[in-house]
Parts: sequence; structure tokens; C-alpha cells
Amino acid sequence: MYPERPAGLAFGGDYNPEQWPREVLEEDAALMREAGVNLVSLGMFSWALMEPAEGRYDFGWLDEILDRLHAAGVAVDLATPTAAPPAWFVAAHPDVLPVTRDGVRIGFGGRQSACSSAPAFREATARLVRALGEHYRDHPAVAMWHVHNEYGAPLGECYCEHSVAAWRGWLRATYQDLSALNDAWGTTFWGQTYTDWSQIDAPRFNHTVVNPAQRLDYARFSDGQHREHYALQRDILRELTPHLPVTTNFAGTVNCKSTDLWQWARELDVVANDHYLRAEQPDNHIDLAMSADLARSVAGGAPWMLMEHSAGAVNWQPRNLAKRPGEMRRNSLAHVARGSDSVLFFQWRASRFGAEKFHSGLVPHAGTDSGQWREVVRLGADLRRLAGVRGSRVRAEVALVWDWESYWALELDWRPSVDLSFRERMDAFYEALWREHVTVDFVHPSADISGYRVVVAPSAYLLTEAGAKNLHRYVEAGGHLLVSYFSGIVDEHDAIHPGPHPGALRELLGLSVEEFHPLRQDETVLLAAEPDAAGTEALPGRIWSERVRPAGAVTVRAFAAGPDAGHPAFTRHDLGAGTAWYLATAPVGGRALRDLLGPVLDHAGVSRPRGLPEHLELVRRGRHVFLVNHGDEPVTVEGVTGVSVFDGVRCDGRVTVAAGAVTVVEETPRTEGERA
Ligand code: GAL
Repeated sequence: MYPERPAGLAFGGDYNPEQWPREVLEEDAALMREAGVNLVSLGMFSWALMEPAEGRYDFGWLDEILDRLHAAGVAVDLATPTAAPPAWFVAAHPDVLPVTRDGVRIGFGGRQSACSSAPAFREATARLVRALGEHYRDHPAVAMWHVHNEYGAPLGECYCEHSVAAWRGWLRATYQDLSALNDAWGTTFWGQTYTDWSQIDAPRFNHTVVNPAQRLDYARFSDGQHREHYALQRDILRELTPHLPVTTNFAGTVNCKSTDLWQWARELDVVANDHYLRAEQPDNHIDLAMSADLARSVAGGAPWMLMEHSAGAVNWQPRNLAKRPGEMRRNSLAHVARGSDSVLFFQWRASRFGAEKFHSGLVPHAGTDSGQWREVVRLGADLRRLAGVRGSRVRAEVALVWDWESYWALELDWRPSVDLSFRERMDAFYEALWREHVTVDFVHPSADISGYRVVVAPSAYLLTEAGAKNLHRYVEAGGHLLVSYFSGIVDEHDAIHPGPHPGALRELLGLSVEEFHPLRQDETVLLAAEPDAAGTEALPGRIWSERVRPAGAVTVRAFAAGPDAGHPAFTRHDLGAGTAWYLATAPVGGRALRDLLGPVLDHAGVSRPRGLPEHLELVRRGRHVFLVNHGDEPVTVEGVTGVSVFDGVRCDGRVTVAAGAVTVVEETPRTEGERA
């Protein structure tokens, strides 16, 4: 259920009026009108004002703000303020303060200072949310509910006494009897057999490595505790206002390591995501695209909401670079291109005090006589012209397998190499596809993937039998799968699938791996040119090498140097109506990976624009084609016919996008004659 209001695309952001005197609030309403703001998130950190003492609720100050916003035509995404429990509450219940893995109980003075499992926190949450919901159930400004703020960030796992008690309950419910738990965790290793549930602790800091299956379960449990805290609030709000959608904002899909967003998305009425550029990283718009594609994917392809990003610099990175002119516009419209129906920011007005006073806002400290404010006003106008995009969908022919459980498992301690990293491989494949102008979805290994021409599994280290079977069926039925090294190694308890490696994928890939040969830091190997393909070049690889023994697969490229020289590096296995490819190293640089990927995409018939410069981002959403030029030169794109949305100009087969600009063309359906 996407919020009905505002109509068109939502534009606005977090609004923290409690930080400002009345005259500023009056100015806010006028400025919001000038910029075309139509949605603000309100109340996120206002528990101390909403409930100044236990059971005493004061919504008077907030009523006035909601009324003023309503009069100004601004809808409200009303937040529950549970991410900032007040001082009186924490003083009365010090046991709610979370404990870190190494045993430190955090103090008050920041935010997220309560454990999601603590009974006092859950009770206070339920009381407050009911009071808030009852008070605002009929207020005409309220368009949706925003529960909490960024669950899991920075508080992923808590190790307090309440967490341990809940954890034991979770384990009993999951395993029923202790011998099942002992088996699943492999407790015969290092003599860890449990004879009573009460002996089981959280996997807290230890001077050596803690049982990996125990850690993996603790990650599942901890994430589930946050979801319970969310669902507690959502259920109350649904009961009081069944007509209003409820959501919570993800702390950036790709950066949210502790939250399994496949599971979270099922609990939300609309997916909401936050994204902040890693300011110093070159081409950081690729990370933005990946975050947006993952948001759309966990939303099942439905439109989602960009709940927060920044107008300019943030304040929490080592060097907080400002956005260059035009960058905020490119960022905003790239999110819309990839399925967002909103462009919202943290925050409306830059704060004068507190921890985030150097963070940009839509209204900067410089005020409205500033380049940033002029860009904000222009963006508001652009978004009004894009209203017709609302609700439309993005279609992708290629999918990347993304599984949070595999992410957690892969990055536990004592893997064959510290260079094995979930994000490193995922980023490498995503970037290569982005530079090929291929739009991708992300999929869970057990999802229905039958509609994709190509599926890539960059680091599917943990793969359940069900997941592996799903991939097998996909290929047999005609799909094209590309798997990279260290995939299909362990099951859901981090136990190795019966060998040889990769136990879950041997048959599908038509090979086995006799031994891993991780490389030294900076060591490279070489993938030989394809013997039968003219024009291919030898490519360097890094991080990984291994001894692949084909059993049905054919060698496309062999290692030409390194510990596995003369043995397969890149293989192909024709199975049923499809093909499974396997890559046993990490090609160095984006170009090398693209040289390998290109033929796979061609073989599977993946359509993509050719001859475009890499920095021209092209995404089709419904009838609209978004062209984002991240470069310093104008780019002419062929094959686009329709009307350019921002200036109404017709393009007949080609359109030129100025340096740093964004053009959106509403395409005209081709006539029968043109199609022929
Ligand atoms: C987000 C958070 C916001 C604000 C913002 C600053 O993670 O949800 O409340 O702190 O970061 O960039």
C-alpha cells in the first residue's frame, strides 16, 4: 500500500521544528510552498516532548505544527519517536541501555539507547504509540506512519541480560530440543556440548573465535528482535488507522549489514530507504544506483520511497565533501529512475546545535540566497513535471543474488583469506554491469528467478539446499547463471556441504574444487586468452585461485600463471536448456570483469545500449527513459523517441544530454511500421 498523498512524487524531508522558534516555523511554511515541498517526516526524535513524564502525554505543540503544515498543503509522514527514548525513561530503567559485544553498557546522550528486547522499552513503546495513534488517527495532515528510525544502525546486536533471556527463548522455539541445537552448531568441536538451555550465552567477546554457527544464529535472532519491536508498533497503528500505510526507513539497503531486508520488506506497507553518498569515493553514484536497485528489489519491484538523502555534505564522514552544482539533482533523479516515488532529505533546515549541525539541509545555514536553495526550488519543479512517473515499474533482465545470511556468514572469522568479502565481489559485479548500462534486480537465492536472462551469484558462500536446487532448476529450464568463487560452500549452519567443494553447486557447475589457493596481498595470477576466440586478451586476477577439476564443464580460459597455471579459471557448463558459468578468481579492474561478462550477456541475449560512454546512466522506468550524464561533456544518445519532460522538446531518435545534466524522455510507443 503506497501512501495516497501527496499525489505525484513526494518531495520534502525530515522536519524537526522543535529546534526552532515560532517565527522560523512561519517562514518554513512559506519556503516549503516556494520549493513545492509536499511531504515531511515529523516527530522522529520527539519522545521527550511528546511524553515529558511517564504516562503524561503532550501533543499540543505538535498539533499546532500539523495544523500549520496542513494549511500549507504539506502532508505528514508521522514518526514514532522510539529511536530516541527520553532521559527520564532511561534513568528510571537503566537496564534498557544496550550492551556491546565486548561488554560495554552504552550511556545516554546519543540516540538508539534502548535494547529492542528490553521489556520496559517494549511496554513504554506500546503505550506511547497507542497514545500517539489515538490522538492523530483522524488528523487530515497524516498520510502515513514512520516507525522508529533505521533499525539496526548503529545498534545491530545487543548483549544485555534481556537479550540473553530472549535469545534462549528463541533457541528453544527454533530447535525444540537441545540435541538438535548441538548438532546444528557442531558443538562436538572444541567440546562445547550443552546439557541445559541455561548454559547458552550470547556469543560475546572471547579471546579466540566463537562458534560460527552460534554467531550466525545470534545475527538472525538480533535482527528478529528489532522486527518484533517494529511489528509491535505497526500492529497498534494498523488497528487504529487501517487506511494509513506504515513503514520504517532502512539505513541504506547496501550498507545495512545487520538487517535481512528480504524479511523486513514483508513487514512494511511500503519500502523506505535512506542513502548517503560516500563523498570521497570516485563514481559514488554507482553505489547510489546499487542501493536504489536493492530497495526496489526488496520491495518486489513495487515503487519505494527515498526517505532520506542529503542536499549537500553530511557531517559524519572523515572529509565531508559538498555536492557539486547539479549533483543533488542527478542523485535525486537517479533514485526516481530506479523506482522511487519520492525524493526526501535529511533534513529540511540545517540544525544550529547538536551532533548534526554541520550536516546540510534543504535550507542551509547560508539561507535562501544560495546556490543550494536555488537547486532545491528547481528540483521541486522538476519533480512536479515527473508526476506521471508515479507507480511505474523498472524491468531488469539480469539479477544479482544477494542474501544477508550469506553476507553474515562469509564475513565471520577465520575464512581462507581476509580478502574474501561479500561487498567487494558484489560491488565489482554491480559496477561492471552498471558500466555496461545493464539494469539489474537483486534476488534471494530461493526466489522465483525464471524471468531473468542472466543471474549472477557473486559470493553465495552460504547456500541452502533449497537455494541450490532453485539455481539448478533455473539453468535446466534455460537460464544463464554465472557463479564466482567461494560460493555454495556451507549450509545454513555454516557447516560445509559434503565435499569436495562447492558441495551445493558441483553438479550444476559441472566441476569440483580440489584445493583453495588464496593469493598473497597484491599477488596476481593470469587468465589466459580464450584459445578459440580471436581478439581476447590475457586478464589479470587477484585475491583467489583454486584447483578446479572439470566434470562436465569446459574450460573457457585457463590460468596462465600462479598456483593453478594450466588449470581452469573460467568454465562453462551446458545443462538442460541453459548454461552455468564459473569464475575462479577476481579479475583486476572493471574492464577485465566486463571482458568476461560481455560474452555471457551476449550468449543470453541481454539487450543493452551500445556505444554509450560509461558515465551516461540510462534507465527505463515505465514509459520514461532517464538519462543521467555524470561526465563533463555532452552525450548524444541514439534510439530515443518521445518528448523531453523538462523542456517539452520532441526528440526523434536521438537526444543530447548536456554535461552533468539529467534528461527524462517520455517515450512514444513505436508504430507498427517502425517496429517492423
Ligand atoms: C541517517 C539518520 C538521520 C540523520 C542522517 C544524517 O542515518 O536516519 O536521522 O542522522 O543519517 O546523515
